[in-house]
Amino acid sequence: MSLLRDADLSAAFDLAAPSYDRMVAANPGYHGQLRRSARRLALPDGGSGLRLLDLGCGTGASTAALLAAAPRARITAVDASAGMLAKARAKSWPDRVRFVHAPAEGLAGAGVTGPFDAVFAAYLFRNVADPDAVLAQVRDLLAPGGRLAVHEYALTGRAAHRTVWTAVCRGVVLPVARRAGNGALYEHLWHSVVEFDTADAFAARLARAGFIRVRTLPTTGWQTGITHTFVARAPAARGGRA
Ligand SMILES: C[S@@+](CC[C@H](N)C(=O)[O-])C[C@H]1O[C@@H](n2cnc3c(N)ncnc32)[C@H](O)[C@@H]1O
Repeated sequence: MSLLRDADLSAAFDLAAPSYDRMVAANPGYHGQLRRSARRLALPDGGSGLRLLDLGCGTGASTAALLAAAPRARITAVDASAGMLAKARAKSWPDRVRFVHAPAEGLAGAGVTGPFDAVFAAYLFRNVADPDAVLAQVRDLLAPGGRLAVHEYALTGRAAHRTVWTAVCRGVVLPVARRAGNGALYEHLWHSVVEFDTADAFAARLARAGFIRVRTLPTTGWQTGITHTFVARAPAARGGRA
């Protein structure tokens, strides 16, 4: 199956936006796992004085997790899908949270400029056409030593985890999604995870992109071995690796 990319992917997310929150509410642990990944940024002092970026914020689930981890920070939340963003904007947020409609590949053009003290990206990277280019941009948007947390479906490479993922998609996710008219997006979800980096490969990708102190952290529940948090830091000096 060819994966959805760019405008086709945004159109599929636009279509799925009205039912997206219901779909994730049926996923045990979805919000708790996002909150744990955001906490893994270990932002000091409730984020006081910090500028944070939530890249691929969707309907705001990851933004809410970031806000819970850093209630005093200023947060810019960006998404390429107008439909997902409309759902996010319709929720209640403090003034310190702002939403921007832009692709991750075109942040500067939408007025999203750094430096950011931390970037959170949940379920984004397996969706972008060129993850290396987006990672390079994220690295450049971060302040020296700035923090990155990526929360992503990235399989371990073990057959058992791949089998669980396929069983969940075939047995639960796809039947529900097809009934809601969103089969194409959730077929993409299934295959994009199978075709994306393993957890080790994504950690290596982060290191190749110049991030330092890269760590891969597990999740619990049915997502064990399927979803991971990747935390890393931007180099302390621009262009440097330490
Ligand atoms: C699976 S949703 C996750 C949303 C949210 N982060 C969460 O945790 O619930 C992925 C989101 O990434 C957005 N997205 C995908 N590719 C993108 C890109 N190239 N630039 C910006 N947003 C993108 C989609 O529109 C979608 O809202």
